[in-house]
Amino acid sequence: MARCVCPWWMGPLLLNPLRRWRLRPERLLGPWVHEGMTVLEPGPGMGFCTVTLAHIVGLSGRVIAIDIQPRMLDGLRKRLARKGVLDRVETRLAMRESLGIADLAGSVDFVLAFAMVHETPSAEKFFRETAVVMKPGASLLLVEPMGHISAEFFTTEVEAARAAGLVEAEGPDIPGNRTAILRKPLG
Ligand SMILES: C[S@@+](CC[C@H](N)C(=O)[O-])C[C@H]1O[C@@H](n2cnc3c(N)ncnc32)[C@H](O)[C@@H]1O
Repeated sequence: MARCVCPWWMGPLLLNPLRRWRLRPERLLGPWVHEGMTVLEPGPGMGFCTVTLAHIVGLSGRVIAIDIQPRMLDGLRKRLARKGVLDRVETRLAMRESLGIADLAGSVDFVLAFAMVHETPSAEKFFRETAVVMKPGASLLLVEPMGHISAEFFTTEVEAARAAGLVEAEGPDIPGNRTAILRKPLG
């Protein structure tokens, strides 16, 4: 069910217009992301949400998009360049076991983990790393596809986030997906 990595050649398929029409990244991200924010997007693939994130944060913000597959990142950069927002997005290649984000400690306003936590070797490690880089009060939007992830498996992911010190709130309604908002407490 989980832990298989989506192959790079699936990248363009994830950008299909039907998915965009159904999930509407602009509507989905609007309530959470604002101009000037620093946004972390682990597992961006070829940028289903990254272009929208870059548009919203604007020139005063930044997006850090981190993937483990060089060919996903190549496709992502080409798409960002075509949309004129390449300069707002820092792309990084990570190891599967670690995002390598210690340099971002305490600087991130919002994390988007869309259809990727189930591919990581350890949800516990993933949430420990992301919790450290989030500012107090920052949110992480966890989205997992119902087709891949059972309710039980999703619960284990949320528990891993709790163990990392994040507090769960109800996630938005996204068709075909399980969601949760995970907040880093203030102070
Ligand atoms: C199913 S795709 C989803 C892509 C994109 N978020 C979307 O919704 O279209 C999962 C992505 O996560 C990446 N990924 C898998 N394991 C990862 C890890 N440990 N760290 C960072 N990215 C990872 C994969 O390479 C792939 O690009």
